[in-house]
Amino acid sequence: MQIARTVAEFRALRASQPGPLGLVPTMGYLHEGHQSLIRAARAANATVALSLFVNPTQFGPNEDFTRYPRDEARDLAICEAEGVDLLLMPSVEEMYPAGASTTVSVGPLSTVLEGAARPGHFDGVATVVTKLFTITEPDRAYFGQKDAQQLMVIRRLTEDLRLPVEIVGCPIIREPDGLAMSSRNVYLAPEERTQALALSRGLRAAVAAWDDGVRDASSLRSRVREEIEAQPLARIDYVSLADQGTLSELEGPVMLPALLSLAVRFGATRLIDNVVLEPSS
Ligand code: PAJ
Repeated sequence: MQIARTVAEFRALRASQPGPLGLVPTMGYLHEGHQSLIRAARAANATVALSLFVNPTQFGPNEDFTRYPRDEARDLAICEAEGVDLLLMPSVEEMYPAGASTTVSVGPLSTVLEGAARPGHFDGVATVVTKLFTITEPDRAYFGQKDAQQLMVIRRLTEDLRLPVEIVGCPIIREPDGLAMSSRNVYLAPEERTQALALSRGLRAAVAAWDDGVRDASSLRSRVREEIEAQPLARIDYVSLADQGTLSELEGPVMLPALLSLAVRFGATRLIDNVVLEPSS
């Protein structure tokens, strides 16, 4: 595995690597969710690149940028073991040169749900992902359905800017007990970790109701809320059932497909999770 810390180093290393390039953008502190993206990239591309960059512009002023978990040595070992060929680990100054003022803003998809709770978040994501694409010029780029809205924003920006990259969405990887894997799970105290199981349990309850024929949007949201509201340490940011194309909130009988998503706080830790309600289920 070769490591590039600058744009110039990456381009020089890439020039001597073979054929289609698969890119896995990450903020590090890698877990099985990230590893599933690397494996998908490994299976379909001659060369696999992973970017590890904790992007300051996607964190709000009161968010966890400075305390975002970092473990470079462990991340390097995981990348090596998973067969990553090129690791891009740029500094903030390399990604945002002095005086940088250009941003990418995707529009309406960025302002609801996560975008409403975290103003400016998706502008930061869209800007850094556009930079990563222009630096690495991947043939394919891999993103998790865990961040369903992020995946939609990135598909939109790729289409709008006519970027020559195929966006590949990958399924959510969970702990054996159902908690969606996240770098932020390490923040949870033991009691919060136990109560956080209500997120996936609530989503499963809604899917079960769906399978039983429940179609009313607010009834489906209520199934999720009931599970989470029974947890004394949980504070719901939102539980949303939205059109999967536009993310506009659904009311009445659900016409499919629909994204059931949520954000819940445990103390200072904010967790997200989701499931897609499919026409066939
Ligand atoms: P990060 O949170 O490190 O996530 C990197 C990628 O891993 C994202 O595409 C995310 O959806 C995926 N991922 C995280 N947890 C997952 C899980 N449990 N199952 C499947 N995939 C999972 O998302 C970001 O970084 C940043 O916003 C980034 C796109 C790198 C831009 O800075």
